[in-house]
Amino acid sequence: MNQVDYLRISLIDRCNFRCQYCMPEGAELDYLLKQELLTDEELLTLIQEVFIPVGFTRFRLTGGEPLLRPSVVDLVGKIASLPATQDLSMTTNGFLLAPMAQSLHNAGLRRINISLDSLEADTFDQIIGNGGRSRWQDVWNGIQAAYRVGFDPLKLNVVVIPGVNDHEILNLAALSIDKQWHVRFIEFMPIGNSELFGDLGWVASAELRQQISDCWGLTASQIRGAGPADVFQIPGAKGTLGFISQMSECFCDRCNRMRLSADGWLRPCLLNENGQIDLKTALRHGINTTQLREQVRQLLAIKPEINFKERDSGTTAAYTRTMSQIGG
Ligand code: GTP
Ligand code: 5AD
Ligand code: SF4
Repeated sequence: MNQVDYLRISLIDRCNFRCQYCMPEGAELDYLLKQELLTDEELLTLIQEVFIPVGFTRFRLTGGEPLLRPSVVDLVGKIASLPATQDLSMTTNGFLLAPMAQSLHNAGLRRINISLDSLEADTFDQIIGNGGRSRWQDVWNGIQAAYRVGFDPLKLNVVVIPGVNDHEILNLAALSIDKQWHVRFIEFMPIGNSELFGDLGWVASAELRQQISDCWGLTASQIRGAGPADVFQIPGAKGTLGFISQMSECFCDRCNRMRLSADGWLRPCLLNENGQIDLKTALRHGINTTQLREQVRQLLAIKPEINFKERDSGTTAAYTRTMSQIGG
């Protein structure tokens, strides 16, 4: 059985983007109220007194957009300084990153994954649902700042959407050649976006790999991480190329993670909520952390049965939560 030691922690469900594939129109109407979010203190209590004792050592901060949480730098510092933390990372859209990169790094964040779906400002703005002003340059500045500050590995996430950004595969892959940037192509998933997904479909990683390989060749490689990417490299490139193929391959059997939502639900699987635990309500009702540890241990024991094992898009299309609510 896989060791489940990787916790994806959503710091906030809000996002300053409206990526069509992640947060369809109107999704913001369901935003959590501030009092519904785990407080910093509750989150740290759960990490120290529940998650670490049951074996979690790798933490990823997600959102919505994690940089929107006012205390994010402070939280990074506190989680990074726990002796049991072996890996702390963040997934961000990069929009607010440029001015924050140095303080995040100083606080102890060492690696970061930034979404970059396009190198064309117009296409990018179309995907992220720009609010009237182009956001591409801000994100690009965020990536450059993260690179200068020394985040390593620095990964760039591309969700590949047919007819929208799939003409840019080679240009995006080329970003890995001259700099130590690790570009990852993610198969588009039907989560909370059934209409768009139904219209556009998805592209299999194998097809992208072939396209890139025909141009430059590809060799197997690896890069530090806890996620499901298969990693390759253009010969001689400084960075790598990752392929996250949740539609064409099932990696649920080697799943090593759970998710903590911004309002304190511990979810055993991205696509299946069975068994989830409301840790925030338990804490607020005075349940002690020894009991919570026991509940989490029990959930860990049944996780292999909960893991989502069906890949058929019809099943996930019926899924109601958006990726921004789940934290990707
Ligand atoms: P590292 O490998 O540690 O750098 O991170 P990661 O790839 O786990 O993190 P990231 O937040 O960048 O995730 C990239 C994408 O992987 C997500 O957007 C999802 O599409 C996909 N992914 C991550 N976790 C899961 C999961 O549990 N199930 C499925 N089906 N997809 C996942
Ligand atoms: N399919 C695949 N990946 C998605 N993400 C958000 N929505 C989807 C989807 N429908 C990705 C983002 C980001 C991560 C947090 O989740 O691009 O990299
Ligand atoms: Fe886009 Fe990430 Fe925000 Fe979703 S959470 S809308 S993928 S920036």
